[in-house]
Amino acid sequence: MQEKIKTLISNAKNALKSAANMSDLNSVKVAFLGKSGELTSVLRGMKDVPNDKKPLIGKLVNEARDAIQSFIQEKERILIAKETAEKLEKEKIDVTFKGTKKELGSLHPCTLVIEEILDIFTNLGFTVKHGPEVETDFYNFQALNIPKDHPAREMQDTFYITEDLLLRTHTSPVQVRTMQSVKPPIRVVNPGKVYRPDDDATHSPMFQQIEGLVVDEGITMCDLKGILEEFAKRLFNDPNAKTRLRPSFFPFTEPSVEVDVTCSMCHGKGCRLCKGTGWIEVLGAGIVNPKVLENSGIDPEKYSGFAFGLGIERIAMIKYGIPDMRMLFENDIRFLKQFK
Ligand code: DAH
Repeated sequence: MQEKIKTLISNAKNALKSAANMSDLNSVKVAFLGKSGELTSVLRGMKDVPNDKKPLIGKLVNEARDAIQSFIQEKERILIAKETAEKLEKEKIDVTFKGTKKELGSLHPCTLVIEEILDIFTNLGFTVKHGPEVETDFYNFQALNIPKDHPAREMQDTFYITEDLLLRTHTSPVQVRTMQSVKPPIRVVNPGKVYRPDDDATHSPMFQQIEGLVVDEGITMCDLKGILEEFAKRLFNDPNAKTRLRPSFFPFTEPSVEVDVTCSMCHGKGCRLCKGTGWIEVLGAGIVNPKVLENSGIDPEKYSGFAFGLGIERIAMIKYGIPDMRMLFENDIRFLKQFK
């Protein structure tokens, strides 16, 4: 019996020596310590051991079990260390390896200009309101004092959808929609896309405008000039910017003006951008025609207002020195990248 136990220990040792991985180790565990393992069969043989030898043999069997268990634990520690080392080696990452760079996009120059202008006006107490791009003849023309067949329609070539439906040619119809739905005092800006069948270096069939409207009691040309001069100072980052009003004509304003701002490049001295004049034309404006107030349900005896409309592409061209409007629509990545 003693011999048997000794052989058992050395067999276990040998079996463990050749266990190359955790699954081999498990098989050894089962073979020696499992229910029908070799140690169990030795224990079964205990009944044939003479009584006086039982304490000694029992002790030996216990010692053998403890020894085998500790051999297994030791082997397990070695195998885990080995497998971890192998895994680390296999999954090693080279942190110095050249990565793939993610290109960040940038906002379109027109979007930048719109955001900046809306920012300026909301800081001056205006709210932003949008209107539909497919408009009726009433909102786009008639309510704005441009009757059917009137020569003033020739100021704006139009994409008609039906006789009465069209793609809006300007953002001015949102003035009327606003006055119909909001009671004075009104201070709104209306950004959006507008459409006209023109296509050359300074015109595009789709372009963007921002309309402004202020209606309250006692609004005059002074309010218009004050607000627009403050706007010009902020937009062109020039605290000394001045505005100049030139008489003009729009059917929806009376009187009407073109608003010029001192050239942002030469500050009035005269340069290529302002064609030597020192002034740049930035927008159309005027005192809202009483007929338009009336058409929109506002009492012209009580209220007056001023309005203005500006072209986003034009402002972007002035602000960023872009020579050809078509560059804004070509989506050339080399151009767009410069506005990061
Ligand atoms: N709607 C005009 C256009 O597209 C621009 C404009 C001029 C708007 C004067 C106004 C204004 O509100 O008062 O040409």
